[in-house]
Amino acid sequence: MEKKILVVGGGGREHAICWSINRDKVKHKIYCAPGNAGIAQIAQCVDIEQTNINGLLNFVKENKIDLTIVGGEVPLSLGIVDEFEMEKQRIVGPSSAASRLESSKAFAKEFMIRHKIPTAHFIVADSPDQAILILERGDFGSEDEPLVVKADGLASGKGVILSANRSEAILAVNQLVNSNNIEKNATKHIVLEQMLYGTEVSLLLFADGKNFALMPPARDYKRIGNNDTGANTGGMGTVCDNDLLTNSQTQEIIDKIIKPTLEGASEEGLEFRGVLFLGLMLTDGGAKLIEYNVRFGDPETQSILLRLESSLVDICESIIEQQLENFQIEFDNKKSCCVILAAKNYPAKPELGDTIQGLETDSDKITIFHSGTLKINTGELLTNGGRVLGVAAKKEALKAALDNAYSAVKNINWKGIQYRTDIGS
Ligand code: AMP
Ligand code: GLY
Repeated sequence: MEKKILVVGGGGREHAICWSINRDKVKHKIYCAPGNAGIAQIAQCVDIEQTNINGLLNFVKENKIDLTIVGGEVPLSLGIVDEFEMEKQRIVGPSSAASRLESSKAFAKEFMIRHKIPTAHFIVADSPDQAILILERGDFGSEDEPLVVKADGLASGKGVILSANRSEAILAVNQLVNSNNIEKNATKHIVLEQMLYGTEVSLLLFADGKNFALMPPARDYKRIGNNDTGANTGGMGTVCDNDLLTNSQTQEIIDKIIKPTLEGASEEGLEFRGVLFLGLMLTDGGAKLIEYNVRFGDPETQSILLRLESSLVDICESIIEQQLENFQIEFDNKKSCCVILAAKNYPAKPELGDTIQGLETDSDKITIFHSGTLKINTGELLTNGGRVLGVAAKKEALKAALDNAYSAVKNINWKGIQYRTDIGS
């Protein structure tokens, strides 16, 4: 049945969600708040910020929206799902309480311990000063031990600093506290963690509170520079490839991480409905959970949804109806990728408003997802965010998909454009 659907957010992930809905056999009417210039090609953009929960609620009531899909963690943590459900509006996503699995790293780590989920050793400091004291006293880690320093709260991927030793970790605490990119609240508590070594995989799943369905595994390239150098970003590119995990690794993750998480959440009254994202490190000692996200990843989603053959709308409805058990979700067997093109000075202080050139590519070999773009009266397209565009492709072989994506990337340009040339390697 044809539906009116609202997608909340305005980045590449939300473009991919709208794109996927737009491919549905049924022609739905898609709205996106606030959307972006790319999304505007396939959806009606609505000028309401994703944090304006009341505004969004009024919009869905006035426009008789049948289904709302939330892209990002901020509206989820603000309780958009709770508010919508209270007003009997159909929405997919976890409650604000369940969203704490992402919005508080300290909560998430303590949850992992309660449910015996393998993760890095850690300690939670109640304040940045206490974190420094812990480090100075040597209460956590030894002088030369690499440590990871994390802001407890949401920080768009900018709240984590990898430190080579204790002295660097002390500097990292100060750097987080003084960062202009991180809200003060997010650094009220600090998590200090042991460094894990191995390869990282993002594994996403749909969950309806009773059952779950895996999506194919993806890998995110987080650092700004080639060979994983430079600052952490929201993600500079992804691949989605079944071979990222063996069957036995997947089974181990299901048994030791996914089931204890979903069962533990239900036991604690945090029944998880929506998309759960596991950030995993495949270590010599097995898979360890780095973090939860309570939503689709960005840019993982761009490469994952490229491979989805089932209807995303039907999946969302089956989550709301708790009918995932009876839904066979299909992905194709190809390999996909998404290369992110970022603005000058991303992630520190991205420059906005530069003219994007060479986007007239009309190729069926690639799909372009807009992350941060703005179309002005003259018809010109401008950069309007740290991450600007994602160029995605899929093929039987990953290399062929990457070749297609990168040959399109070469034609696109603006002042100070940045991208990694080693996605997928
Ligand atoms: P997060 O914001 O928790 O996803 O962390 C961002 C990135 O920091 C992760 O994707 C990892 O690359 C890295 N990271 C976080 N925690 C650890 C850890 N304990 N050991 C190694 N790398 C980590
Ligand atoms: N790409 C990681 C994230 O969405 O947080």
